[in-house]
Amino acid sequence: MNMKHLLSVFALIMAVMSTAALADIDLRNAITGMPLDMSFAKKGGNTDAFKEFLKTGKNPYNVDRQAIEKGHDLYMTACSGCHGHEAEGKLGPGLADDYWTYPANATDKGLFEVLFGGANGMMGPQYVNLNTDEMLLIMSWIRDIYNGDPKKAKWLK
Ligand code: HEC
Repeated sequence: MNMKHLLSVFALIMAVMSTAALADIDLRNAITGMPLDMSFAKKGGNTDAFKEFLKTGKNPYNVDRQAIEKGHDLYMTACSGCHGHEAEGKLGPGLADDYWTYPANATDKGLFEVLFGGANGMMGPQYVNLNTDEMLLIMSWIRDIYNGDPKKAKWLK
């Protein structure tokens, strides 16, 4: 292959890569704004649902009853100690109403970013205990128990 060919192949690869980057959502740490390092993700979380989430930024489990039930179980183990059994708030803030310290939590992308990357103080990165699919399951339960203003439910839009 001559140099010219090599360059055009390279250009093609770059073009394909940048389209892929555009198609996927850009996940960032809620505090630092730095890209989330997905190499910390626990094994087993790269399910079809998670792949879809990476493309659309929407949690495909939100309307799935079985997923919501599983999410509830996981929430009880991983989150309720700090956020309360009904997500009413305890050491950490309530998660069922429409007030968010981090307004991006009104989108599935924003909620995932806080779960995976953590926020301040005791809200550490949840990748230590949960894989990314389990995070989506928990998120679907949080959306299911929402009791805030329906107009502020940005994840539905
Ligand atoms: C050790 C206690 C602790 C655990 C466990 C914990 N959190 Fe938190 N969480 C907190 C605290 C404290 C904050 C407030 C942090 C801040 O404001 O930066 C918080 C903040 C949050 C926020 C941001 C809320 C807002 O108003 O923007 C979300 C969402 C959240 N937690 C979800 C979860 C979920 C889901 C789990 C379980 C996977 C979990 N947390 C586990 C203590 C905890």
